[in-house]
Amino acid sequence: MQNRVTTIELAKLKKEGRKISALTAYDAPFARLIDRAGADIILVGDSVGMTVLGRENTLSVTIDEIEHHTRAVAAAVTRAMVVTDMPFMSFQVSPQKALENAGRLIKNTGAQAVKLEGGMRMKETIKTIVDAGIPLMGHVGLTPQSLHQLGGYKVQGKKPDAARRVMEDAKASEEAGAFAVVLEAVPMDLAKDITAELGIPTIGIGAGPHCDGQILVMHDVLGLTEGMKPKFVKVYANVAAQAEKAFKEFIDEVHSGEFPTKEHSYIRTRLKVVGKSSRGK
Ligand code: KIV
Repeated sequence: MQNRVTTIELAKLKKEGRKISALTAYDAPFARLIDRAGADIILVGDSVGMTVLGRENTLSVTIDEIEHHTRAVAAAVTRAMVVTDMPFMSFQVSPQKALENAGRLIKNTGAQAVKLEGGMRMKETIKTIVDAGIPLMGHVGLTPQSLHQLGGYKVQGKKPDAARRVMEDAKASEEAGAFAVVLEAVPMDLAKDITAELGIPTIGIGAGPHCDGQILVMHDVLGLTEGMKPKFVKVYANVAAQAEKAFKEFIDEVHSGEFPTKEHSYIRTRLKVVGKSSRGK
């Protein structure tokens, strides 16, 4: 049994200038591979709505769905910290409601922490959850649950006023007790300033190289995402092409009768006939 990555370990990594690696996962087989590969954090993101459930955005993801996917991930992970994402409207209504939902996710899934989007305006909510003993990861900059308010998936903090707001959001997350904060789609020099300003680790996605850690969506890393690819995505393997090739080979072999052979078939057990032999013995 390996030692679980904790908030203390993550703080130590920042202090020592060692980078934190994080990936999303939504099911047991991929979570197992990511854990074995050595990621420090596995996030069951509400991106599940788009990557796995085929939806246009993350807004319709429910707490039941996040709970379902987080249970699968947590069941397969022994080392990484499993963080479960609080879906849209599971934490915005009131700090009390947010605490109930955060508690439900921790109790029912096996995750070690929750994540929620928003900085200054979520300060009281973050504090309420953290005060109950639940580790919480903040998320500022581009917050996809505010997609319609932001006018699309746009880089945040480009202009001085906007940059100041992102900085304030990140600081508010730390002040409220978050153990780390995701910086999504912000200019790299702003992410550098925030990382220097904060005592807690920053985990960047589209925020440049100066963050304390990096996170990417698993499906992006494996080339499984179709359509628009953000500038910050790096595809490390074209699993989609390999999977399609394998499926095609199977289909062709079924059509041609090449599969299955005896090798992939069972044989009937033949009963030995017991009786007098022809030599009378
Ligand atoms: O939902 C998600 O996958 C996320 C990451 C992009 C940080 O929030």
